Amino acid sequence: MRLDVVSIFPDYLAPLRLSLVGKAAEAGTLDLRVHDLRDWTHDRHRTVDDTPYGGGAGMVMRPEPWGEALDALAPEGGPQPRLVVPSPAGTPFTHRLAEELAAEPWLLFGCGRYEGIDQRVTEYARRRMRVEEVSLGDYVLAGGEVAVLVIVEAVARLLPGVLGNPESLVEESHAAGLLEYPVYTKPATWREAEVPPVLLSGHHGQIARWRRDEALRRTARRRPDLLRRLPAGELDTRDRAV
Ligand code: ADE
Repeated sequence: MRLDVVSIFPDYLAPLRLSLVGKAAEAGTLDLRVHDLRDWTHDRHRTVDDTPYGGGAGMVMRPEPWGEALDALAPEGGPQPRLVVPSPAGTPFTHRLAEELAAEPWLLFGCGRYEGIDQRVTEYARRRMRVEEVSLGDYVLAGGEVAVLVIVEAVARLLPGVLGNPESLVEESHAAGLLEYPVYTKPATWREAEVPPVLLSGHHGQIARWRRDEALRRTARRRPDLLRRLPAGELDTRDRAV
């Protein structure tokens, strides 16, 4: 998968060279390219922002450098990426969207700063590529860079060959619509706290049932909204008793 990131703080994206995503980039699973938006400015101060039309606080990112960046990275008439623009005004980022993005051959991330990017940029991009404005949650970050780190990590671990143990993808929380059950490792007793005995029993059926019950209880307590959204037929009679 090719990944381009455009930002005025390319150094902010340095963690993409570390850990799981970094290894995928080194192995060639990810073709990662980070660009400085200011490379597409032409004035002495390499200006990327200006005051908002209509007035108000803060600054808005000017459309010209963004237009040039899009044209340079994905020229009209050629293959097009899916553009992802993190924004608190976007649609919520979910596991489902991560799966959808993981199926794309090419993603281009545009990191906004200040009060955002001139609206005409995404409208221009939509003429030739799919555009997703994505929010991480109902809070405001200083810019899209941290959101890109989050989105890329969530997407990259879904790519074939990126996770050491692909089984973890099958078992994990949001894949099943439930939060994950609690996990334990050695020692069996630690500071007088015991590991739940069923996990030491070797009974695979009972262990699976216990994990399911814990996942259901946790979800009911912490995320009742998820439980309500579970597709009909996802809960069996035993689940309902929990
Ligand atoms: N940029 C600023 N705030 C954001 C948020 N909550 N999600 C995604 N991108 C953002």
